[in-house]
Amino acid sequence: MVFKLTDADWEQAEKYLAGKADGSKFDKHQRDPKTGSTIPGSAAREHSFVLIEGVIYALSNRNTFLPGIGSTGVVKKGLSRAGHLVAIKIEFGDLKDLNSPQCQIAKQHKLLLAQAVRSAPNMKITIRAPLEPLRILKGNQKRYTVMEWLGDALFDVITEKWEMIPQVTKDLIALRACLCVQAFNQSTTHNDIKAENLTVIFEDEDVTKIQDVTVNAIDTDYSLALPKGQTFVIGDDARGSPAFIAPEILSKRYSPLSDSYALAVMLLFQLNVAQIDIYAHVGSYLADSLAALRRKPQSIINPIEWLEQRKVQIEPELREIFVAMFNPDVKQRADANAIIKYLCQQLKAAPGLSSVLKAEIEEIELTTRLKMLTANFAEMSGLMKTQTVAEAVEGLLLLTPPVVPFNALMAQVSLQQDAVLIPAKSASPVPGK
Ligand SMILES: Nc1ncnc2c1ncn2[C@@H]1O[C@H](COP(=O)(O)OP(=O)(O)O)[C@@H](O)[C@H]1O
Ligand SMILES: [Mg+2]
Repeated sequence: MVFKLTDADWEQAEKYLAGKADGSKFDKHQRDPKTGSTIPGSAAREHSFVLIEGVIYALSNRNTFLPGIGSTGVVKKGLSRAGHLVAIKIEFGDLKDLNSPQCQIAKQHKLLLAQAVRSAPNMKITIRAPLEPLRILKGNQKRYTVMEWLGDALFDVITEKWEMIPQVTKDLIALRACLCVQAFNQSTTHNDIKAENLTVIFEDEDVTKIQDVTVNAIDTDYSLALPKGQTFVIGDDARGSPAFIAPEILSKRYSPLSDSYALAVMLLFQLNVAQIDIYAHVGSYLADSLAALRRKPQSIINPIEWLEQRKVQIEPELREIFVAMFNPDVKQRADANAIIKYLCQQLKAAPGLSSVLKAEIEEIELTTRLKMLTANFAEMSGLMKTQTVAEAVEGLLLLTPPVVPFNALMAQVSLQQDAVLIPAKSASPVPGK
C-alpha cells in the first residue's frame, strides 16, 4: 500500500496549509518553527503534504514506493484527498513557462497538470537509485510538477520482474509500446524513446498472469511538434540517448522514423522480442555506441551488424524487419507496421489469450495490414494490387462481424474500387512519405 492516510491526517494537513502560499509543505518531520530543523526524538508522520495550485497532495513514502529517478530530481506518487493519483516531479528550478512549445506538448500528454515552487535556503533532494552512488542535490527553489500517474517505468518492470511475466504479456507490452509510439507520432516526435521513458499499467496486480496492459509515453522534455503535413522537424541541437539515436539526429533532423529506430533498439535490446541471449550483450552495446559517437561524431553502430559480428542470430523474419527499421537512410527506413503485424501474429497463435484480447489483436492486425497496403499501393503493379486487396479482403472475411470496425470496412471498400479503377501508372503519390 503506497498511501496510509486517515481523515485525521488530511484534516491536520488542511489545517496547517490553509491560507499558506502555493508550494508550501506540511512536513513529514516535526520541525522547530524557529530553526527549521527536525525536533530530535519526535515521531515522523507517515507522509508529507504539499500545496500545488490550491490542491493538497500527500507524497508517497520512500519505504513503500521507490521514487522514479530522473536526471534532475525524483518523481514520487502523489494523492489528493479526492483520490486523484498523480506523479509529482520534484527538482530545483523556476516555474515552467506554460506557453512554451515544450509545456504545450507536456500538457497534451497529461505530463503537466499543475506546478508550484517553494523558496527556502539550502533545501535538499536525495536521489537513491539502486546500484548508483547516492546523489544529494541542493538548491533554494524547489519545483513541483504534477503529472497524471501513468504507471511504472517499463525499464523498472524489466529490471525488477521481467522473468515472472509470461511471454504473451511481454509480447503484448511490446505491441502496446509500438502502438503508443505510433499514436504519439501523429503530432509529435518524442526524441527519447526507450524503456525508461515508457510506462506500463498492468490490468491485474499479479504479473504472472496473462493479462492486458496499458503503455504510455512520458518524459517529453526533448519532444518537438511535427508541423502538419511534414514528415520531419529540425531541432535546435542533436539530443536523445546514445545507442537509441538514429543517424539523422546528428544533423538535428527528427522524424517519426527516428522514433521507430529508437523503438526498434528498445524492442531488441530491452524487451528482447527476438528472445535471444540479449542481456549478455546490452552493456557492451551501450558502451560501444557511446564510444563510437565520441570517437567519430558521424558514427552510429548498426545494431544488427553489431550482433552478427558477435555471432548472435535472429530468426529470419524478425531479422528482415529489424534490418529495415535500422536503415541508416531515413528516407528508406521502415516504420513500425511490420513489427506490429509480426507481434499480432505471435499473439494470435499464443495459448492463454482471452477472446476479447484476441479479437482486439485481430483488429489491430487488420488495420496495420491496411496501413501497409495503402503505403505501398501506388508502387504496386496492377496484378499485385489485385492480389493484395484479395488477401486483405480474405483476412477481413475471416473476422467475426462485430470485430470489424465500420471505418475499416469502408476503407476496404474504397481500396477495392481503387484497385479496379486506378491504372498502375496514374496512381496517387505515396501518402505520408
Ligand atoms: N507521469 C509519470 N507517471 C509515472 N511515473 C513517472 C511519470 N513521470 C516520470 N515518472 C518516473 O520518473 C522517472 C524519471 O522521470 P523523467 O520525466 O523520465 O525524468 P528525466 O527527464 O530526468 O529522465 C521515470 O523514468 C519514471 O520512473
Ligand atoms: Mg526520462
